[in-house]
Amino acid sequence: MKVLITGNLPGHAVDMLLKNGIEVVVFEKNKAITQQELIKLGKDADGLICLLSNKIDKAVIDAMPNCKVIANYAVGFNNIDVEYANKKSITVTYTPDVLTDSTADIAFSLVLACARRINESEKFVRAKKFKGWQPDLFLGYELKNKNFAILGAGRIGTAVAKRAKAFGCNILYFSSHANTELEKTTGAQKLPLKSIVKKADIISLHLPLTPKTNNILNKELLSLLKPSAIVVNTARGQVLDEKFLIKQLKENKIFAAGFDVYENEPAINPDLYKLNNVVLLPHIGSGTIEARTAMAHLCAENAIAVLKGKPAVTPVPVKKKK
Ligand code: GLV
Ligand code: GLV
Repeated sequence: MKVLITGNLPGHAVDMLLKNGIEVVVFEKNKAITQQELIKLGKDADGLICLLSNKIDKAVIDAMPNCKVIANYAVGFNNIDVEYANKKSITVTYTPDVLTDSTADIAFSLVLACARRINESEKFVRAKKFKGWQPDLFLGYELKNKNFAILGAGRIGTAVAKRAKAFGCNILYFSSHANTELEKTTGAQKLPLKSIVKKADIISLHLPLTPKTNNILNKELLSLLKPSAIVVNTARGQVLDEKFLIKQLKENKIFAAGFDVYENEPAINPDLYKLNNVVLLPHIGSGTIEARTAMAHLCAENAIAVLKGKPAVTPVPVKKKK
């Protein structure tokens, strides 16, 4: 049996597979694998461990007739045609839980960086412009008593809410389901999206990208934000109208925004580089030694389980037919 891994992963995933008698091929070039390479290398693979930057579409799935498992090295799985894979009897797995706190930390880093203008002031010091203390130098906003809105009350949204609670924020959340744990631990209040957007001082996005959440924070909603609002996206670029958000930032209609993900990733809208009121990160939400190692091990465990005929550890939930 053979597993293709589309990039070098931290930790011992390769050894785990080898110990289980599974042959491993790692795509080791320091760049994203192309569809052609994926199709070529995957053709005799029994399993695939892939990255969120790999598009696992029908063509790729059809090119792997022996494949029984696709283990995505991410919690989001919008890069995979899960329905088609399942139809071909391929189990798709993902990496929930192990990256929750790392991603929540990055979301909160962006919130603080936006609120306190960390990147602007840091650049100012490096440019040797700091000539002395001033009462009005880079004034930002305090987090205490602010309305902190979480869109998506899953694991990561809940972890962010707990951090916000510790900073003295009032937590509001939007979710298709009530989250009683979140309400109990943080006093969070569930509200419709429109009321949330009007009340929010900070909005942090934690929704998976699905047809329902695509562009959910649209023009109409974004235009309701307070001038002091901060928007932070560590989910997927397409959950908000990026172009319109950039327009609002340009016109100072909102205070700031923090991006870890982008609409056309890895391409960045060039207008973003010109703005001072944004913080731009290269999709490093789960980028800690702890999370990325645990993600790799979870991918290996999933692949091993399925290839041994056992249930996957963390399968992507299969959509129920309505
Ligand atoms: C990161 O974006 C992930 O989905 O794991
Ligand atoms: C993902 O882990 C989430 O549920 O937020």
